[in-house]
Amino acid sequence: MAIINGKEVSAAVRARVAKETEELKVKGITPGLAVIIVGEDPASQVYVRNKERACEEVGFFSEKYALPENTTQAELNALVDELNNRADINGILCQLPLPSHLDDKEVINRINPIKDVDAFHPVNVGAIMIGDYNFLPCTPAGVMELIHSTGVEVTGKKAVVIGRSNIVGKPMAMLLLHENATVEITHSKTRNLADITKEADILVAAIGRAKFVTADMVKEGAVVIDVGMNRDENGKLCGDVDFEEVKDKCAFITPVPGGVGPMTISMLMQNTLTAAKIQNNVENN
Ligand code: GUN
Repeated sequence: MAIINGKEVSAAVRARVAKETEELKVKGITPGLAVIIVGEDPASQVYVRNKERACEEVGFFSEKYALPENTTQAELNALVDELNNRADINGILCQLPLPSHLDDKEVINRINPIKDVDAFHPVNVGAIMIGDYNFLPCTPAGVMELIHSTGVEVTGKKAVVIGRSNIVGKPMAMLLLHENATVEITHSKTRNLADITKEADILVAAIGRAKFVTADMVKEGAVVIDVGMNRDENGKLCGDVDFEEVKDKCAFITPVPGGVGPMTISMLMQNTLTAAKIQNNVENN
């Protein structure tokens, strides 16, 4: 068994983005990301701080808009409109979840799809479906990078995704399909789940339940990717996979923390770079 090192893969992505950013700066272009956060949710504040730090690290310009809890939908919409119209802002991200009086769909739909670096806008979601996209949602894109880092060929493999969220499960399945895996999406209501997961050469767990995937659910020699971020009975951070049980059965596994987590923000940097190139008519390769 080998542990996939998310920190290492993530650092390699950031180094690549930083290098390309230097090249863009020679052309007078500095990628710019605006991050909107409404209210005081502590987890969201940590995420947003990490996004700002990552921008600094790769050489982007970033602006944080920390709005009070009682912000109205009209005020939030007006900010999105202003950022849509600014040439120096290439990417706009509104940190979710929003306070309950605000409508996240309305905000997502208002962001210009070319600046939607989360790839949450229906236009970008549809583009992913047909395989003709500018941006990939950050977490599934990060998972693909981790799978590639193992050197395991995806084509023809059986891939099983546990979880069907719009942010992870559904796009994850689509990306695996684009790389010619035979994909099955499973979820909390799937019958005989273990019978299905036991067949998976590539198993992606994104169901949000602590240590849900046990050794009896995993095929010998599988690649196991754990998107979960949960607390165990002792309050310790853990994934959707019972790491200690599963690690000796599979060929590759991601730890929590240090697996998928570090990838997400790096892929956001990648998307912001892509957005800057597209908006400045620089060839994107
Ligand atoms: N909240 C948790 N994850 C995410 C994410 O990837 N993007 C945004 N905008 N909010 C989040």
